[in-house]
Amino acid sequence: MHVASTCANLPEAAQTPLGSEVYQGLTARPKTLSPWLFYDEQGSQLFEQITELPEYYPTRTEREILRVHADQIVATAAGCERLTMIELGAGTATKTGLLLKAAVRRQNEVTYHAIDVSGSALDEAKQRIEAELEGVAVVPRVCNYTDGLGQIDASGERRMVLYIGSSIGNFEPADALQILRDMRKDLTPGDKLLLGVDMVKDTELLLKAYDDAAGVTAAFNKNVLVRINRELGANFNLNLFRHRARWNDEKARIEMHLESLVAQQVSIPALELEIKLQRGETIHTENSYKFSDAGVIEMLERADFHLSDHWTDEREWFGVYLATAW
Ligand code: AVI
Repeated sequence: MHVASTCANLPEAAQTPLGSEVYQGLTARPKTLSPWLFYDEQGSQLFEQITELPEYYPTRTEREILRVHADQIVATAAGCERLTMIELGAGTATKTGLLLKAAVRRQNEVTYHAIDVSGSALDEAKQRIEAELEGVAVVPRVCNYTDGLGQIDASGERRMVLYIGSSIGNFEPADALQILRDMRKDLTPGDKLLLGVDMVKDTELLLKAYDDAAGVTAAFNKNVLVRINRELGANFNLNLFRHRARWNDEKARIEMHLESLVAQQVSIPALELEIKLQRGETIHTENSYKFSDAGVIEMLERADFHLSDHWTDEREWFGVYLATAW
């Protein structure tokens, strides 16, 4: 057994994406686990539940912005051209319908390329959208979004890439910038990016959104331990961990952690690893960065996009930014 970070020859399981992430994260100090580990089937379902919680305002606020402004967003993006829409991390694409309907109103038909790592979510999106929205042709593409974008043929139409839901906020600022730069490389001047981001706001509101009364976010956070137990044979006892949401003011981000309630040792047999946790020690599982107007504009400019327009809600809790590749 390896205790903490001694590892000459790593076991095979430590070389899979999941195993390597868990091995590196849990032998690091402080301990971390990357947020992509949340999204197994159960985690994806829990996330869908989160989006409907009374405390979790981002999804409904963004949807309302799109509902009110979809025609103007599409008109500004299209100019005199026809649009092809491409969504990165489309999932079940529940908010996208508002933009697709606006595109159909404007140009009668629209092609919608939905990119996601989850094939089942894309199948569901295709079935639902094509049944509900006449004039929309859905082209699903199961892959990592940065790989997928360059392969899309828009048949001479202007591309409008949707990266909504504040997904960009789950990346470190340098990685977020790199994602936008990678996108930009796959676009031609004049193509558009629609970026949805969650804004900095009252700390209490933010904390409640990430620590809801019904405990859904806690279950979502702890699900990462359930997944490690199932996939790597670990023996995490969920009752010995507590979900914690913290606001980091300096970095303008909500952090999610799993706090060990006791001093304990956990085995992860597939990784031949034993990890020790002190009482009160945490495993840092997610950052959710919150943005300012100036911060978003600067990030877009640094990735070679120009801001074309932006929309927000009455309380300015969420922002939808339309940017042009140049
Ligand atoms: C997917 N992402 C934008 C969510 C967020 O708000 O950062 C993930 C999430 N984590 C806890 N609640 C929601």
